[in-house]
Amino acid sequence: MSQDYIVIQAEEDGVHVIGLTRGTDTKFHHSEKLDAGEVMIAQFTEHTSAVKIRGKAQIHTAHGVINSETKK
Ligand code: TRP
Repeated sequence: MSQDYIVIQAEEDGVHVIGLTRGTDTKFHHSEKLDAGEVMIAQFTEHTSAVKIRGKAQIHTAHGVINSETKK
C-alpha cells in the first residue's frame, strides 16, 4: 500500500479519530479515542475514504500541518 500516512497527535483527552467508509454510502466505521499526547498513524484505504477528527489535535499530512480545535 503506497498511500501516504496521516499522523494525528491528540492535544487533549478524548479526541476521536473517526474513519468514514469509501463507496456509495459514507458512514462511520471506526472510532478511535486518543488521550492527550497519544498519536495515531493512519492511511486512507480501500475501506476508508475520509477521516473526521473531533477535539483538539495536531494533524500532519502531505498537505501540511492542521490544528483541529475543540468546540467552544
Ligand atoms: N479497517 C480500516 C481500513 O482498513 C482501518 C483504518 C485505516 C482506519 N485507516 C483508518 C480507521 C483511518 C480509522 C481512521 O480502512
